[in-house]
Order: sequence, then structure tokens, then C-alpha cells
Amino acid sequence: MVFYRSGRLRRDPSQFARGSLTHGGCYSTIAGGFPAGLPPANPMSKPEISSDAIMTRQHRFATQTVHAGEGPCPVTGALDTPIYQSTTFASANSDDMAAVYGDEKPGYMYTRYGNPTIRALELKMAALEGCEGALATASGMAAISSAILAFVGSGDHVVAARSLYGAAYDFLNHLLPRYGAAATFAGSARMEDFEKSIRPNTRLIYFETPSNPVLEIIDIGALAALARSHRIPLMIDNTFASPVLQRPAGLGVTVVVHSATKYLCGHGDAMGGIIAGPESYITPLSKSILRDFGGIISPFNAWLILRGIHTLPLRVFAQCANAQRIADFLNSHSQVERVNYPGLPGHPGHEIAEAQMKAFGAMISFEVKGGYEGGKKVMDRVKIFARAASLGDTRSLIVHSASTSHRAVPREQRLAIGISDGLVRLSVGVEDPDDLIEDLDQALAF
Ligand SMILES: Cc1ncc(COP(=O)(O)O)c(C=O)c1O
Repeated sequence: MVFYRSGRLRRDPSQFARGSLTHGGCYSTIAGGFPAGLPPANPMSKPEISSDAIMTRQHRFATQTVHAGEGPCPVTGALDTPIYQSTTFASANSDDMAAVYGDEKPGYMYTRYGNPTIRALELKMAALEGCEGALATASGMAAISSAILAFVGSGDHVVAARSLYGAAYDFLNHLLPRYGAAATFAGSARMEDFEKSIRPNTRLIYFETPSNPVLEIIDIGALAALARSHRIPLMIDNTFASPVLQRPAGLGVTVVVHSATKYLCGHGDAMGGIIAGPESYITPLSKSILRDFGGIISPFNAWLILRGIHTLPLRVFAQCANAQRIADFLNSHSQVERVNYPGLPGHPGHEIAEAQMKAFGAMISFEVKGGYEGGKKVMDRVKIFARAASLGDTRSLIVHSASTSHRAVPREQRLAIGISDGLVRLSVGVEDPDDLIEDLDQALAF
């Protein structure tokens, strides 16, 4: 599907023409497990892939969240994956070291090139996203920038959704042009607008659904069909949904990226990112861009995120149930102009979300009456919601977009993508929903 040449990944048109590898291909190869020769989840086991990592591919999602990529240490019996807080790894002799360096033998040498704790997280995420491989990175933005740069170089073009996380938008809009590439943002979530933006030099289509912070929904299967018909790889930021709610590779998406800082970690205590996709993309990426830009995750953060993932479905479904109740409450509140939540039947993407997601997520944004000052007032009056950036934590968080995350965006541009002066974004946590509703009710009483 992709091959590596002169420092970056390129599409191989002949393989796209056969139509078998990119779109959905990585999902269908799960049962075969990982190719032989990848480093083991635990270096004390034999240098083959641990049978656990393959076996869990046949199990259901919640079982995979606990077991995939991990297994007991064969030497000590330790059930929890150890934190290999080591930058470097010793070899038995010079031949062994040369073989590991030359990729002739699996093993570890230097944490920027690979680390057993990080590897366990990568194996788990590959299983959860139904992809052949995955890489862990220092942050969500390290994942997004590395994953895009693997497809795009000087003279290339990206088509992106209009509603994106701010730093991803900045990367595409401001940084890519400095490297001789350009991005066009589709005028709406409709397929016609994505198709109109495609050029002969388009190397990638990039999108989020649900999007940050206006919760725009894009039909993943329809966009995958469009990308396939133009033989262009498709990349999704799956942070808002997490693999609990949608698994885009199964719908034909080529590469899935995450801010693991959010739902995957879940406790607001570690930054991280994930890139999941076909081995033909992941392996060269791990040996070039990730190694050379150096945006790798620390073993300790990888361990915190691994631990977070054990409870991912429990947390996410509880958060979704809370969010639905809060959205219903806000939707009938006299101080609220509009609620963006795909679980509300009036949301323009409700039917698509219902078809492609297991639940509607735990992110809500709403427009408070009173514009800019109204939005800030709600922020100032809440008692349980924390006035804090980020999302996906067990704690509920609140942000007034116009005065914080989007203060640098010109007002006209901000309004055009639906971020009104009074827009407030909630990340709903796992607290008792009655307390959260009471908190918002008293905050809106002004
Ligand atoms: C949807 C989305 N993607 C990516 C990111 C970037 O993640 P990180 O902060 O881990 O770099 C964020 C951060 O808020 C986000 O909301």
C-alpha cells in the first residue's frame, strides 16, 4: 500500500489499484497476529512475540483492553507489565548487538528505538484499533505531525476536515507550508466538499469525528469510499470516540491517530499519542520519522496509559451515559441557546453517529445566552467541573473556547466553524450525574 523512499512514505499506485491493502485491509488481517520478528512484549520472555498478544486478537474488546500486549513475566511471575525505566539495553556479545542493530534479531538497544513497556502499549493499541501495528508517541500532536509527515513532503497536498483540534489545524495550515506542502479544508462535512478539495497531488485526507469542540460528525464509511475511489490514504483522529465507541480501520480508514493523553490514559496524569495502521506504514515510520524526530513516549507514561486502558470501556460507557443526561438537561434549559451533542435527535449528525458509534461520546459543547460574557460566567460559577484544558479524564472539565483554546483564531473564522462567543465545552467525567446537573443548573442561574 505504501512504500518508503527517500525519507518518506509514498503511495504505491499499483497496490491501490488492486484495492486490497489499504482500506479495511489492516482490519481483516487481525486473526493472523503480528509478523514474526517483532520484539516481544516482555523482554524476559523468549524473543518471539508472546502468545498472549496473538491470542487476545480473538477475544472480545473488553478482554483485549485488559490482556492484549501484556502477559506475566516468565522469570518473576509479575502480572503487571514492568516499567522498563532504562534508556539503553545491553547485548550478550558483539555479534548479538550487531544483529539487533541490523534488525536480524529481535531485541532492544535504545529506548528511542524501542522499549518493552512502550511496546506493550503499542501491541495493545494495535489490537484495540484492529490494525496490524501501532506506535506510541510523546503526545497526541507528536502522533499527528509524525503520521502526516510520513505521507507528505514538498509539493504535496492534504485535504482536511474544517473542524479540527486547534493545534492539528495550525500544523496543517501554518507548518506544512513551511515544508513546501499545503492543506485545503473541506467546506463542510459533506462528501461533495471533500471531493471538490482533492487535487492531483493530494497525498492524504485527514479528519476527526466527533470533532473538537463543535462535535461535527463525518460519515467514516462514506469518506473511506471516497478516499479509496481516488486512491488516497485516509487518516482519522479517533481521540473523542476512543476505540470503545468506533473502530475506524474496520470502516476502511488507513491510519488511526490518538491523543492518548485523553480517554486512553483517562486519569489526567500522562501525555501520549498513538499511530495505528498497516505494518507497511508503521514499520518504516518507526525507523525513520519517529526515530529521527525523536517524539517517543517515556516508559513511565506508557505504563500509566497501559493501566488506564484496563478500565477504558467501563469509564467511557459511564461517561457517555452521564453526558447523555447532561445534554438532555442543557437542551431544555432556558439559558442555553444550542447544544452540540450527537446523542440529541436534533443534531445534524445524529443518524450517522448512531450508525457508526456504540454510544455518542462524553464531550458536549453548548452556547450560553449572553455571548462571550455569558460563557465566562458559567465557567466562573461551576463548583464541581474543573476550569481546565484537556478532556477524557475521570473528572469533569469545562472550557470557554473563545477566551481560551480559540482566543488566537480571528472571530469571523471562529464563527464560521461554529465556535460562537458563548460556546462552552464540557468533558463529562464519572461523577454522579445528578451532582453534575445540579452544578450546571446553579451555574446557569444568573
Ligand atoms: C482531538 C484532539 N486531538 C489531538 C490533541 C493533541 O493531543 P496532545 O495534547 O496529547 O498533544 C488534542 C488535545 O486536546 C485533541 O483534543
